Order: sequence, then structure tokens, then C-alpha cells
Amino acid sequence: MAKALVLYATRTNETKKIAELIAEGMRMRALEVDVYSIGEYESKKVDPQPYDAVLLGAATYHGDMIPTMKTFLFTLEKANLEGKVGGAFGAFGWSGEAPDRIFDTMRHIYKMDMISAPLRLRSASLGGGIQMAHEYGAEIAGKIAK
Ligand SMILES: Cc1cc2nc3c(=O)[nH]c(=O)nc-3n(C[C@H](O)[C@H](O)[C@H](O)COP(=O)(O)O)c2cc1C
Repeated sequence: MAKALVLYATRTNETKKIAELIAEGMRMRALEVDVYSIGEYESKKVDPQPYDAVLLGAATYHGDMIPTMKTFLFTLEKANLEGKVGGAFGAFGWSGEAPDRIFDTMRHIYKMDMISAPLRLRSASLGGGIQMAHEYGAEIAGKIAK
């Protein structure tokens, strides 16, 4: 069974909720999914290599990604994710820079096989957020299957 890893950095848990909804969308398409905060990922010493897809999510604060994710992107550079399917997401209030910047790092530095675009949501549950997050998970599953 194909596997996906979803990692997130959040302050008030909106990005965590989005991570869990994306994971639901992937599980509906028969993927095995693990979801961790960056802290959990590091304390469990998770090996990213067995995963077919890796998704990173971070909230936007002060026009940038939350600092935990900024530091973590340097850590993950060493993990050799080249060729794995990738996606990026995050909660935001008005400008939402984080998902785009993470997405670009995954594409240009990690050389991952990125899906069409990052997912930016003002809320996990309002304005069609649940459906959009499920669809994002489905798109990841579809790309792994190709
Ligand atoms: C001090 C502060 C600064 C923020 N700066 C931004 C910002 O520059 N751009 C933006 O889109 N949202 C900004 N937000 C809104 C958060 O991104 C939004 O509340 C988001 O849902 C938080 O996600 P989280 O629960 O995953 O931390 C800011 C919120 C706070 C409290």
C-alpha cells in the first residue's frame, strides 16, 4: 500500500486541522497516512524514506512561514526526498505566504514531484475548506498512482 507523510507547524491548530483533513482525503483513496507535528516527527525520529509522498504544512505569521517550519526546511534538505510526490498547505488570515514558499523549496531544492499548487485555507472548516482539503488529498493519491 502506498504511504504518505504529512508534517505540519501550527500555533493555534488550524494548520493541524487542515493536515488531518488532507490525510482523510488520502485515506479515502486507500493511502496509508501518518500525520505528525514537526516536534513529534523529530522526537520519534521518523524515517521519511519509506513514504511515496511527503506533504508539509505551515501557518503564515508576519508575512512568512511560522519559524519552526523555516528551520525544519533546512533539516529536511538532508533527507533526500528527490522524486517523491509533494504538496504544501497552510492556514492563513489575509496574505498566506507560507504554503507558496514551502512548495517552491520542495520543488527547487528537494526536487520533489510536486502536485499542481499549494493549498491555502483561511479556515479548515469554513468556505468549503473540508472539501478542498479532501480534494487535495485525493490529488496526491492520484499522482502517486500514476
Ligand atoms: C500575530 C499574528 C500575525 C499574523 N500574520 C499573518 C500574516 O502576515 N499573513 C496572514 O495571512 N495571516 C497572518 N496571521 C493569521 C494566521 O495565519 C491565522 O490565524 C492562521 O489561521 C493561523 O494558523 P495556525 O492555527 O495553524 O497557527 C497572523 C496572526 C497573528 C496572531
